[in-house]
Amino acid sequence: MTTIVCAGCYGQRMSDPRPIGLFDSGIGGLTVLREVQARLPGESTIYIGDSARHPYGTRSDAEVRTFAEELSDELVARGVKVIIIACNTATAVALEHLRERHPSTPIIGVVRPGAAAAALATRTGRVGVLATVATVRSRAYFAAIKDENPGTLVIERAASELVPLIESGLTNTQEMSDAIHAAIDPFLAGEPSERIDTLLLGCTHFPLIRGAIDAALGAPIAVVDSAAATASFLQEIISVNGLEAPGSSRGTAADPGHLGHTAPASAPVAPVHQIFTTGDPVAVDALAARLFGEAAPRAQQMTLGAKRG
Ligand code: DGL
Repeated sequence: MTTIVCAGCYGQRMSDPRPIGLFDSGIGGLTVLREVQARLPGESTIYIGDSARHPYGTRSDAEVRTFAEELSDELVARGVKVIIIACNTATAVALEHLRERHPSTPIIGVVRPGAAAAALATRTGRVGVLATVATVRSRAYFAAIKDENPGTLVIERAASELVPLIESGLTNTQEMSDAIHAAIDPFLAGEPSERIDTLLLGCTHFPLIRGAIDAALGAPIAVVDSAAATASFLQEIISVNGLEAPGSSRGTAADPGHLGHTAPASAPVAPVHQIFTTGDPVAVDALAARLFGEAAPRAQQMTLGAKRG
């Protein structure tokens, strides 16, 4: 964990202008990036989407771990201060491994924050989780939700087939509609009193089709995704560790102000945002413009590893 201490003022932490790094198997993690930028507008970010090798959710754990190593190594080499694994599959399979690999960089996954949000959202104690094959296989959500509340019934379903459709932008097609119903309808089977009351979107791609999922559910079921909960957790980690960007005014109740967090308004530090993709930058730009507006940075091409398909 990095704490920068200024010479002559031991114990008082300074600001940290380094970017926050995020990665995903493709465009799904942009839903997490959106929440991070909304909550931490002074922070710079570097996002890498590995669209050339998506989907991760149908790959072996060993492959996902190798890809996650490459992505986190790249972010560390680019000098990030924190990494968010903006991918449930990589979180479920590789979080602990990456923490061992990069012990001086705080690494945050999306599973725990999402699980906590879902466990607190349910009133009936019945939670559904829609995720990839690899995430369901890992049982990471099952364990994390049970940790939060052992009495919760957790029903997990895999819907990896949605990921390539989302990546290809085919969101308004009959194929997508059929795939969404195939994924959602089993959650609606049985007596209404026995159904889930909360559905956790356990894949960062799924919020990109949130409207269609809501329509398919067609029932008063709370839909929770990890993005907002993860961004909120990141905000705490950054604050508690004194890692805020210059000009950020936020501290903690116990330690309300740090040197460097009250940069004069006349000298604002503009955050810098970079988006990289191993896939087609044009496709990423289209989605980024939709999520972040026209000011979104242009996606840049990146090559990773041996570019295994
Ligand atoms: N967006 C990723 C997740 O949250 C992975 C999707 C995939 O590549 O299968 O699980």
